[in-house]
Amino acid sequence: MAISNNGRLLSTDSNVVDQTLRSNSTEALDAKPPPTEKLLVLGGNGFVGSHICREAVQQGLAVSSLSRSGRSSLQDSWANDVVWHQGDLLSPDSLKPALSEVTSVISCVGGFGSNSHMYKINGTANINAIQAASEQGVKRFVYISAADFGLVNYLLRGYYDGKRATEAELTNKFPDGGIILRPGFIHGMRQVGSIKLPLSIIGAPLEMVLKHAKPLTLIPLIGPLFIPPVKVSSVAKVAVRAAIDPLFPTGIVDVFQILQHSQQKSA
Ligand SMILES: NC(=O)c1ccc[n+]([C@@H]2O[C@H](COP(=O)([O-])OP(=O)(O)OC[C@H]3O[C@@H](n4cnc5c(N)ncnc54)[C@H](OP(=O)(O)O)[C@@H]3O)[C@@H](O)[C@H]2O)c1
Repeated sequence: MAISNNGRLLSTDSNVVDQTLRSNSTEALDAKPPPTEKLLVLGGNGFVGSHICREAVQQGLAVSSLSRSGRSSLQDSWANDVVWHQGDLLSPDSLKPALSEVTSVISCVGGFGSNSHMYKINGTANINAIQAASEQGVKRFVYISAADFGLVNYLLRGYYDGKRATEAELTNKFPDGGIILRPGFIHGMRQVGSIKLPLSIIGAPLEMVLKHAKPLTLIPLIGPLFIPPVKVSSVAKVAVRAAIDPLFPTGIVDVFQILQHSQQKSA
């Protein structure tokens, strides 16, 4: 027992109970609620995919990745918070276990090679993923596509035909939750084997200059040369927001819109 200023007896027992309740409720406030969003990143061990995984982990989401090599060589500490699945989008059955309870998917699967290979990896593989995700009841699907580059589109037909075929399938299967990001060149630190390539040495100054030059991109033939590069962390931030924010507009997001969205504070 203790005596208060007005002489009333105070029970120290109840103080103890009070304190316990208070500390329990503070703990309850401090404890993070279990994430309600479960995000699957296809190609999460690649250049763009790994930045997306990191951004999503930092936002407290439950994150998993699927690629043919699984975790690969990533050593960063955030990578321990990602569940790494091995699978091949060209064998859609290998994707199904990774889709269990997933609410959003971001696909960073793509690549270069012969025209037929590029169509397969940028088109068929992603179309398989969209169909599987739609069957599993995934709510939102974000696809990292690519900006049109005029003549380059013709030279890399397989790449662009694949990208556009995937976009068409996404619009069809996810009319209310499909988002297509169309960046140009993406810069940042790119790991190639044991070598780190600082792509921002060229990309960052070009981005600074060209982000204000939208009208130049409309010049026939040479316009695409003026499409600004975009930082990999900006693409990651916008992709994660698009995947979890029901207010993020669906449809095509061009490079200027990516730059704009990346400046906005997350809710
Ligand atoms: N980098 C740029 O400047 C740029 C610009 C515009 C658009 N984009 C687009 O952005 C996306 C990501 O580009 P990035 O540079 O990050 O490419 P990346 O580093 O080559 O990553 C591609 C990812 O896809 C995975 N993958 C490839 N084939 C697969 C398959 N059949 N099944 C499952 N996973 C597969 C790869 O992992 P495994 O090899 O382990 O399977 C890797 O994780 C691509 O779609 C690309 O076209 C990139």
